Amino acid sequence: MTGPTPVDLVIHGGRIVHPDAIVDASLAVRDGRIAAIGTPDLMPTATETLDASGLHVLPGAIDVHVHFRDPGYTHKEDWGTGTAAAACGGVTTVFDMPNTVPAVACAEALAAKHAIAAAQARVDYGLYAFLGEETIDRVPDLVAGGIIGFKLYMGETFGKLPTPSTGAMLEAFEVVTPTGKRISLHAETASIMARREARLRAAGRGDPLAHLAARPEVVAVEAVSRAAVLAEWTGARIHILHISSAAELRPLAEAKARGVDITGETCPHYLFLSAEDYQRCGGIIRINPPVREASNQGPLWAALANGTIDLIATDHAPHTPPEKTRPDIFAVDCGFPGVETQMPLMLTELAPRHASICDYVRWSAANPARIWGLAPQKGAVRVGADADLALVDLEREMTLDDAALQSRSKISPWHGRRVKGLPIHTLVRGRFVMRNRALVPGTEGWGRSLHTIQAMPPAQPRNTDATMAAITGAAARS
Ligand code: DOR
Ligand code: ZN
Repeated sequence: MTGPTPVDLVIHGGRIVHPDAIVDASLAVRDGRIAAIGTPDLMPTATETLDASGLHVLPGAIDVHVHFRDPGYTHKEDWGTGTAAAACGGVTTVFDMPNTVPAVACAEALAAKHAIAAAQARVDYGLYAFLGEETIDRVPDLVAGGIIGFKLYMGETFGKLPTPSTGAMLEAFEVVTPTGKRISLHAETASIMARREARLRAAGRGDPLAHLAARPEVVAVEAVSRAAVLAEWTGARIHILHISSAAELRPLAEAKARGVDITGETCPHYLFLSAEDYQRCGGIIRINPPVREASNQGPLWAALANGTIDLIATDHAPHTPPEKTRPDIFAVDCGFPGVETQMPLMLTELAPRHASICDYVRWSAANPARIWGLAPQKGAVRVGADADLALVDLEREMTLDDAALQSRSKISPWHGRRVKGLPIHTLVRGRFVMRNRALVPGTEGWGRSLHTIQAMPPAQPRNTDATMAAITGAAARS
């Protein structure tokens, strides 16, 4: 008699972390999915077993905000190096931004990026499409081409993609809403920043803090408020990227209370860095929105705790050392790598901030999966879900070292920072992409685009009798 076919992998001895509980249990993986969770004696026979004693088993992080620069700026990053960084950071899914060259603003550019990502990605991914003044009529083609959502830039940042007028933004929301896709917003108001930057330059300011002076909180508060109004009117689903200030929390919380489908993220640099770091870091700290005064950190943590902010993302924005060290701050490229260091940084600071590893799993995996319609397949250690796992050692310490990053961008404000709590193994759909802290060779091309499993709830358009299509009769004619 032959027994049942063995499963591919059983992980024994770990502590499985859910958003609401930690459970000591073994876990079996078959064909890339979690096949069983339970006591060791209940586990099926396995081709391979892993002793995870002393480790916590987390759902791999879902980083909904990375810039992998490929195509167009592969001297900064490409899909191979970017997803190597993700794998070594315990990140099993990334959503890539469209400010590449060409921008992901048409079906051809989207198809080209899909081909590159499919060949090189080591972790799963979603691709964002650019939503701008001139691309509204391409929304159906972009959705058909396979995207996770749209990105709309209310303010200029790296890549200098044009920012739409409020009129175009309203129409863009009207058109995207029925598709069910979420629109992620770079919520900084372009005209305020442009005017202030011009005045600062004219006054001879080129020092690092001039960057912060050009983009005070009101830049973000005005943009978040305006976006929330348009989302409320149209029924659009929106996501506020990189929340940097306490002042943005009020329009965000108020919109949530009114029933707007609005979500928000913050990033480690807004939680751990402050205006006091500009002198130490110089241009390296330049990022949009800017790192702000330390007084913002407490409210951002509180907003994570009470759910006003839904999740942690990184805005992984790699550049080279020469691009980050120009003497004039306004000539420095904005951003720095983060996908690889988010998990250690966050794990280090949970206890001091009275947060738990369960909270972390909610912010890093469960909420992103729910918000983009990837649950129940992603974002949880659950029977039937993809075996996307980060096995972390909460006692393991390390000094972050830019030179050791997988990212092609070896320059960040995190260099020299001590962390405690490291991902040791990362699995994507049951396959190790990092093992014992080493990148697993041959995993390029293992990553898959997630648009095929994305299941967003039914769209809820509002004020449909007043849309641009309705008033011009375009809806009736088409
Ligand atoms: O600092 C930033 N860099 N902020 C952004 O929004 C874009 C990013 C980039 O692409 O470099
Ligand atoms: Zn970004």
